[in-house]
Parts: sequence; C-alpha cells; structure tokens
Amino acid sequence: MRRVLVLFGISAFAAGCVGGGSPDAPGGTSPGGTEAIDPDADVFAGLPRGADSLKALCARNHGDLVARGLCASPAPAVGSLSDLQHAVGLFAGNQPPQFALTGHSSSLVSRSVSAINPRAIIFTAPSQGPTTQQNDGSFVGDPGFVAMGFVRGEQFVELVAHDPQVDELHFYLVRFTQACNGAGCTNGDLLTPAIEKDWHDLTVYEDTDIKNTIFDCQHCHQPDGPSSRKLLRMQERRAPWTHWLRNNLNEPGGVSLLADFQKMHGTDEDYAGIPGNLIATPRSDPLVLEALVDNNSLSPQPNEFVGARIENEVDHSAPSQPSVNDPVGASATWDQIHQRAVAGLAIPVPYHDVKVTDASKVASMTTAYRQAISSGSHASLPDIRDVFLDQGLSDLGFQPEPGLDGAGILVEMCQRCHNGTLDQSISRARFDVTNLSTLSRGAKDNAIARLRAGGAKLMPPARFGSLSAQEIDAAVAELMK
Ligand code: HEC
Ligand code: HEC
Repeated sequence: MRRVLVLFGISAFAAGCVGGGSPDAPGGTSPGGTEAIDPDADVFAGLPRGADSLKALCARNHGDLVARGLCASPAPAVGSLSDLQHAVGLFAGNQPPQFALTGHSSSLVSRSVSAINPRAIIFTAPSQGPTTQQNDGSFVGDPGFVAMGFVRGEQFVELVAHDPQVDELHFYLVRFTQACNGAGCTNGDLLTPAIEKDWHDLTVYEDTDIKNTIFDCQHCHQPDGPSSRKLLRMQERRAPWTHWLRNNLNEPGGVSLLADFQKMHGTDEDYAGIPGNLIATPRSDPLVLEALVDNNSLSPQPNEFVGARIENEVDHSAPSQPSVNDPVGASATWDQIHQRAVAGLAIPVPYHDVKVTDASKVASMTTAYRQAISSGSHASLPDIRDVFLDQGLSDLGFQPEPGLDGAGILVEMCQRCHNGTLDQSISRARFDVTNLSTLSRGAKDNAIARLRAGGAKLMPPARFGSLSAQEIDAAVAELMK
C-alpha cells in the first residue's frame, strides 16, 4: 500500500536565507588557504580554485538556485555545510529540510557510505507525489528544484539544480578544505561533526568543467552521451527502497539500518546539517525523493533495482535477513541487473542485501565512535568507513566478478567510463573498451601503464574499485594481444 505523500509547500523560488557568522566568503583564503594539502590536487590540477572558480561559474549567468545563490551580491558567507544549504535554497523560509539517508550508495562516494556513515540527500520538496506514469526525462514538474548529496569523509558536496531559463540540469561539485588540511586530516576531522563546519577555500565546479577527471558526473548522470538529457539517479526508486533509512515497520530493512545508525550517533547528533531529532521522523523519507525523480527526471531508472522482488528473494534464501546479512542472500532478479553492470552496459547496481556491512566491524567502530564523542577527543578515531562485508566486495562492484578473464575484467571495471557513447572529444575516449580489438598498440600500452600506476593515475580510480595482482596480470595479458 502506498502512503499519502505529505507535502510541505516549499517554493523552490523562495529566497534562500543567507548563512551568517562564518569568517570566509566563498573562496576566501584562510588558515587552510591555497597552500593546504589537497589529497586530490593532481585530479584538479589546471582548474581554477577558490574565488577564481566562483568567478568562472558566475560569468556563465546560470539561472538555477545554486548558481544564483553562490553568485548573489553580496556574496553569501559559506563556512559550513549549513551555510551552503541555505545559500542554495534548501531550508528555504526556515522550513525543516526534506531529506533521505541511504546506508549504501552506487555513486561517486560509494566507498564512504554505510548505515553508520550514510549519504544524505537533501532537496526541495516536490509538488506532487510519486506517479506510475513514465517520464522520458523531458518532463520537469518542479522547475528550479535543487538536490544535494553529502557524506562525511569527503571534503566535497554534490549538487544538482534545474535551470528553468534553459530547462537543463546543472550538476556541481563544491569542494572545501578544513584547517587540518595543512598538517593532514585525521579520521576524526573527516568523520565526525567536525567536517560539517569551519570550511575554507570553497571551490565550485560544474559537471562540464570536470568531465575528464575521475570525479566526472556525466558517465552516471548522462550515460547516453552529450546530446542526451541529464538525469537524476535513484536506482532503488520504489518501495521498499532497500538501502534507505526509514522508520516504518513496513520496511524492516530501513528500520534495521536506522538502528545501526542510532547506535553510533544517538538521537541528538545533527547529521549532514539535519537536526538529529528529525532523523527517525517521517521527514526522513525516500518516498519523497522518489517523487522528486518521478516528477523531474527519467522514470523508471535505467536498469532499475526492483527492490520488492529482490528483498523477497533474498529473505527466502537466507531467513535471518534483513537484519543479519551473513550468510549473504541470493536473488535471481538481482543477478539479472548485476549482469548488465558486469557486461559494462550499466553503472554498478546496489547490493542485493539490505546491509553492506560486517556486523563485528560495525560493533567495534560504534564503540570507538561513542568513546571519541563522549571524551571530546577524536584524535584516534579509526576509519569508520572500513566496515564492508568482505564476502560482498565483488557483488558491491568494488572488485570484479570472480572468474572473469582479462577482457571481462576490463569490460566490468573500465567500460562505464571508457566507451563510444560518452563524450568523444576528451582524452579518456582514446581508450574505448568496446573497441578493444581495434585499439592501437599505443593505446593498449597506455592502459597497461595506468593499471600499474599510482595515485591519481591509477585505473580503475580507487574510489570506484580495485584489482588484485592476478586480475591486473589477466587484464595486462589481454592488452598485450
Ligand atoms: C558512479 C556513478 C555516479 C557518479 C560518478 C556521480 N553520481 Fe550522483 N548519483 C549516483 C547515484 C546512483 C545516485 C543515487 C543515490 C546513491 O546511490 O547514492 C546519485 C545521486 C546524486 C544526487 C542526488 C539527486 C539524485 O540524482 O538522486 C546528486 C545531487 C548527485 N548525485 C550529484 C552528482 C554530482 C554533482 C556528481 C559529479 C561530481 C555525481 N553525482 C557523480 C551516481 C553517480
Ligand atoms: C570512473 C570512471 C573511470 C573508470 C571506471 C576507469 N577510468 Fe580510465 N580514465 C577515466 C578518466 C576521467 C580519464 C581521463 C583523466 C586521466 O587521464 O586521468 C581516464 C584515463 C584513462 C586512460 C588514458 C587515456 C588517454 O589516452 O589519455 C587510460 C589508458 C585508462 N583511463 C584506462 C582505464 C582502465 C584500463 C580502466 C579499468 C581497469 C579504467 N580506465 C577505468 C575514468 C575512468
């Protein structure tokens, strides 16, 4: 049964309140400053940063709320996540935010996300509930809408905003540094409330600026290439929204994810700018995000995760699911969508089970986090992102499917970014996995070098996956042919 969608009547055009009290204007230099240690400096080398990046963006005169907010005069002071949310029109009119938290992500930040470190999506409320009508992606029911993605551990925020002047989606990556960047940030600096404030060196890129970097948005949000319409993503668009936290007994999975979250964060820790006391309320709702997707973007989604059927099959295969995920579940429906990702035809699909975590790792991280918060010292916090279930790593898409040969490994781990459909005018198009047999010796040698490279040159990029020594050898042998 569908529940009625509660609408909150936030106008996307209501003036955003301007965050106050923070020391830095966007891009202002500060203790972190431009000399700060930037772990991704190589990726963004050659692109403007700080105030220069803002100047470049504002010269484009975009009409969406992100550009209008950040380019407003006087410039908004953005020194925290909350300041940024206000500047781009979220929380408009001092409404509580519309949001949903997910305990697993198949996005740019997939390796940071679990129930104890969820990804928050915060968005302007859609004007109507989910529909069963198809949307070919050209229908925008909420002109001017905005959505933000944030997860702790990453010094950036992802945004999408609809520009009603040109009827286009604009994706933005907003980067920031913290004071700790000078000396190197600890897990405590990055994975506690500390990351949500005291920002410096705000830098903004549009998707078009970073399309030839490993932070590219387009291979997932515009997979059919430059002439197609950009899309919102929500692979688990329909109930039971398998990996999304939801305090409703109709979705026992969502309840068990929320329980894991609250064991670590309690009920009063604000998270991603969201007041802690709202996280277990109906204000936290993937159903409303589903409505945003239905109203404004491609629906159904490409290679959609059919959650109801998959959860049913998983529960039958392993009766202690969803709250206990070891032994792992099995689902023939999931196998089908997963095979499309293995074949390089779709981005990685969400995991079949509700939980992606190893219960014993979660328990020890929870103890460590509680100790850090209660003692007020987070200097020795371990990396609380490091909780994935080892048996799940290939089904999560972080490692190739076992048993693939060299060509199969290249297809699964490279083709989503290296194919003939995406923008062919940039250098990554020179390595086209769909044309492996006709690639030049030089192109293949480049690929061999990148499989063995370090740092920002390593392929696949570490934030998406990794290969074992044997898998590299198999891929190299294929590229030697
Ligand atoms: C590997 C694929 C991938 C890449 C790369 C990617 N995204 Fe996404 N994005 C997703 C998926 C999948 C979701 C749905 C939620 C989830 O799984 O975390 C999503 C959700 C979002 C959302 C929330 C609104 C929505 O569409 O549901 C925003 C905002 C967003 N992404 C912005 C960006 C920006 C900006 C970039 C580039 C800097 C980017 N994304 C790169 C896959 C991707
Ligand atoms: C998430 C997207 C993504 C995935 C997955 C990915 N790449 Fe890349 N690759 C890029 C981007 C972006 C560039 C361009 C920037 C650069 O050179 O670092 C690139 C560049 C390259 C280049 C240099 C092309 C040239 O001629 O300049 C090679 C070779 C390459 N990748 C090989 C691979 C291989 C092999 C894999 C799989 C094992 C892989 N890539 C997986 C995004 C990706």
